[in-house]
Amino acid sequence: MLVLSGLILGCDESASPAKDTVKQSLFGNQDAMVVRNLDADQIKRGEAVYVANCVNCHGQNGEATAEWRKAGPDGKYPPPPLNGTAHAWHHSTEVLKKTILDGTPPEYGSMPAWKDILTEQQVDDVIVWIKSLWPDEIYDVWYKNFENAD
Ligand code: HEC
Repeated sequence: MLVLSGLILGCDESASPAKDTVKQSLFGNQDAMVVRNLDADQIKRGEAVYVANCVNCHGQNGEATAEWRKAGPDGKYPPPPLNGTAHAWHHSTEVLKKTILDGTPPEYGSMPAWKDILTEQQVDDVIVWIKSLWPDEIYDVWYKNFENAD
């Protein structure tokens, strides 16, 4: 348990708003690991959306920029990985959706707004694809934080 939590919390020591909740879930929730139940067709549709729109910045499998914590010379942050190694999994589905639809403020990074380009369904699909990239332990913590209200 301690080893596992060290591993997960250790992956992002800096900007981690959800750290306390992550800790709480790890120590307070002894339930068995969540079984991922994502819709295979939706993953496929999401992958197509991703490949057409996101791959140039976020990488083939969401691996993006290794140095994603460092702002570039222009002061803006590079595209972070979406594969569970950065902090996309610290956000609820709602927050991920809002980030994708609205983009991020131009002074922080160059994540474009997709609301005039993609349908909401396409955004929902791509989020499911992103979740399919996360390792089981990451998905488990994410799910217990955000989807499991009890
Ligand atoms: C032009 C490059 C670019 C493209 C194309 C792009 N992104 Fe991004 N994305 C970024 C950058 C840069 C950030 C970080 C912004 C910041 O830190 O303010 C980001 C952040 C994100 C985040 C937040 C991650 C986190 O850790 O909180 C998500 C989710 C995301 N992008 C999803 C997508 C999806 C889905 C697509 C395709 C529909 C996409 N992005 C296309 C550059 C891009």
